[in-house]
Amino acid sequence: MNTQPNTPLKTVLITGISRGIGKALAQKYLGEGYFVIGTSIDGKIDFKHKNLKIYKLDLSKPRSIKKCVKKIFRSGMKIDIMHNNAGALFDDEETRVIIDKLQRTLTVNLLGTIDLTEQMIRNIQVGGHIVNTSSSAGSLTDTDMKDALTSHFPFHYPAYKISKCALNMYTRTLAMRLEHEKTGITVSSIHPGWVRTDMGGEDASMSPEEAADWIYKLAISKPETGCFWFKGEKYPW
Ligand SMILES: NC(=O)c1ccc[n+]([C@@H]2O[C@H](COP(=O)([O-])OP(=O)(O)OC[C@H]3O[C@@H](n4cnc5c(N)ncnc54)[C@H](OP(=O)(O)O)[C@@H]3O)[C@@H](O)[C@H]2O)c1
Repeated sequence: MNTQPNTPLKTVLITGISRGIGKALAQKYLGEGYFVIGTSIDGKIDFKHKNLKIYKLDLSKPRSIKKCVKKIFRSGMKIDIMHNNAGALFDDEETRVIIDKLQRTLTVNLLGTIDLTEQMIRNIQVGGHIVNTSSSAGSLTDTDMKDALTSHFPFHYPAYKISKCALNMYTRTLAMRLEHEKTGITVSSIHPGWVRTDMGGEDASMSPEEAADWIYKLAISKPETGCFWFKGEKYPW
């Protein structure tokens, strides 16, 4: 059943709205009058809204991705903006790659995210926007040896960094492909900032609401496709 109101609202799909940046982003869009389709692993969240629909999604499970996509397609809802926000950080303080953690990280942050996106593309409106939540941790420039050795975490969290770096390449290749196919769909990578969430920790410099605010502004604008953004400015790959 189509749960969208009669007057079509712009619709945004946001993965991982149970907490952190995704939750703040969902609330920002709802406040701005959008219809929000959100996901969490168990299909539960601690807030409600008449313009909000929540689905179960576990990006580590291809079957779960398929089921979620099927439900969205069945609802008849077309997506204007898709935020690939859900992500996982399994490295603790490691400085070496632990293969099991690398596999689990890539499964969620890269493979699952790509799988979901590829299945959703034909349901994204002409002129839509796909926003991939990357991280400064995935920037090759930020991990440049000269600069990295002066920063706090030059070779820490390698699995997470590898996953976000590869996600950035997905942004680039998808952007070029969708441009070539004349879909009018913009694709962006973003670094949300260092944000006070379960992942970012309580010492982080930005609130989830501050992050959601600038991410929303970027997402509803029509920025150059295939770029990496932080607070509305291009961020170095
Ligand atoms: N916080 C920061 O400082 C920071 C900096 C740079 C980039 N980022 C990126 O920003 C995004 C959001 O981060 P956050 O700080 O808000 O993280 P968070 O508070 O840890 O929340 C993570 C979200 O992702 C969902 N998620 C985790 N594993 C998943 C899976 N296997 N399948 C589907 N959903 C899954 C979680 O859902 P459940 O609650 O259902 O588990 C939750 O909603 C991530 O992509 C992260 O890498 C964050």
